[in-house]
Amino acid sequence: MTTPHASPARGEIVRLDGERIRVIHDERTIAERVLELARAVAASEPVNLLVVPVLKGSFIFAADLLRAFYRVGLLTEVDFMILASYGAGTTSSGTVNVLRDIETDVAGRDVLLVEDILETGRTLAAARDLLRERGARRVMTAVLLDKQVERAADVAADFAGFTCPDVFVVGYGMDKAHAYRELPFIGEVLPNDDDSGRTES
Ligand code: IMP
Ligand code: MG
Repeated sequence: MTTPHASPARGEIVRLDGERIRVIHDERTIAERVLELARAVAASEPVNLLVVPVLKGSFIFAADLLRAFYRVGLLTEVDFMILASYGAGTTSSGTVNVLRDIETDVAGRDVLLVEDILETGRTLAAARDLLRERGARRVMTAVLLDKQVERAADVAADFAGFTCPDVFVVGYGMDKAHAYRELPFIGEVLPNDDDSGRTES
């Protein structure tokens, strides 16, 4: 049996699968911010834009951003890349593997890499460098969350949804060991308390 869930507001604590998740950005806030990002990308006047969501964590952000592009009048093409820098845990492994590459020729084109989180910067830098090597005219980056941590790679987000403290977040595409991607909000996973093992009430 599943029980329906409401859309919680910022600050609310949701208990899921024995874990406490505090909402840091609710659905409505995210939707408004995504539309603003789409306007900002359109204002940069991209030429022959190819949008490359860096999967998997960006899939919901990218889906919403792409539809926002349509609403603001920006037409694009889309291709996907799967990169992995995390295992099943919550710390970066330091190496970035291309698990799935784009099929599109980027030579001479503007490309927008779409990422969920900019943390050490290794993932985004690896993708950017690859596309630059292939002759992209301009490689821009849009990230949902810009984590306030020291970067290990020299990369900045051209477009960022929100800055984010150095905490582990899930939801809106982002996972902890493949769970919680479906949450319509962005939440911080809080340290476990005595309720561990309980499902949401
Ligand atoms: P970076 O390569 O260190 O910049 O790491 C970026 C990638 O790590 C993101 O694309 C995410 O997939 C993952 N990541 C970093 N922080 C978190 C987090 O708090 N929750 C879930 N995934 C994260
Ligand atoms: Mg990712």
